[in-house]
Amino acid sequence: MDQLRPKLFDFHGVSMTHFFTDNWDKVQNFKAKPDDIVVATYPKAGTTWVCYILDLLYFGQTCPEREKSVTIYDRVPFLEFICPQYPTGIDMADTLPTSPRIIKTHLPVQFLPKSFWQQNCKIVYVARNAKDNVVSYFHFDRMEKVQPEPGDWSSFLQRFKEGKMVFGSWYDHVCGWWEKKRTYSNIHYMFYEDLVKDTGLEIKKLGSFLGLSTSEEERKKIVACVQFDVMKANPMTNLSDDPTLDCSVSQFLRKGKVGDWKNHFTVAQKEQFDEHYKQKMKDTNLQFCEEI
Ligand code: A3P
Repeated sequence: MDQLRPKLFDFHGVSMTHFFTDNWDKVQNFKAKPDDIVVATYPKAGTTWVCYILDLLYFGQTCPEREKSVTIYDRVPFLEFICPQYPTGIDMADTLPTSPRIIKTHLPVQFLPKSFWQQNCKIVYVARNAKDNVVSYFHFDRMEKVQPEPGDWSSFLQRFKEGKMVFGSWYDHVCGWWEKKRTYSNIHYMFYEDLVKDTGLEIKKLGSFLGLSTSEEERKKIVACVQFDVMKANPMTNLSDDPTLDCSVSQFLRKGKVGDWKNHFTVAQKEQFDEHYKQKMKDTNLQFCEEI
């Protein structure tokens, strides 16, 4: 697998690798259905967590056997993903046996296939504070053999600031989707930190956005199933059988905390990062919490 590690290149102004651009025409021409649910995130913002919550909200009651036998990445296709020996995200979405389809993407807002907008699909966007996001991304790239080599921590942090990451700049991503809310009302913008603080409340808010009438008892069951340790022990959600992940290097469900950045940033790195962050975020009212 090591020879698979790809190079980053500029793709219409966004850093990408071929694993997410090789199927571009099919991705762009994807035919959305009006009841499709899109989970959009910058990588490492809690995508899998929210995909699993949505899957339980929709299918936890009606297809309990599926929860025990089909992994979360087979239940929730990754739209733009294309890699030899795997079905493409598009083929998986086209052949999903369940309805609605829950579809994951890391695409920045300007790349989302237009049929999702035309069909007025519901979109759940999950954002995570930049410092924890970059730390999580660093450890993920160390273990994920289909990502570019991460290099050392300080060079990775520098590349993150410059937007030279797969799926581009964190700043452009979180702000682009935030701005889209002004003109497209079917976006539920949520934060990883809120999910950590009060998982039950966030699940309740998600349910109202989706128009679901999940009982309190069912919601409590979902909260229990999606706890970090429970997901980490569950082979359907811990990605332990993913051959592209080298679990001797790191874990997919690594820490699941807010504020782990403090264990990685030096004082100087934090100061420089904060200064750069202030500049990059000066025109937005989007705010993040970095510790709880
Ligand atoms: P860490 O690396 O900080 O632990 P994604 O699914 O977008 O790749 O995000 C992965 C990050 O979400 C990882 O962060 C992972 O541990 C965290 N995560 C996944 N499930 C979680 C849960 N149930 N509770 C808290 N964090 C979770």
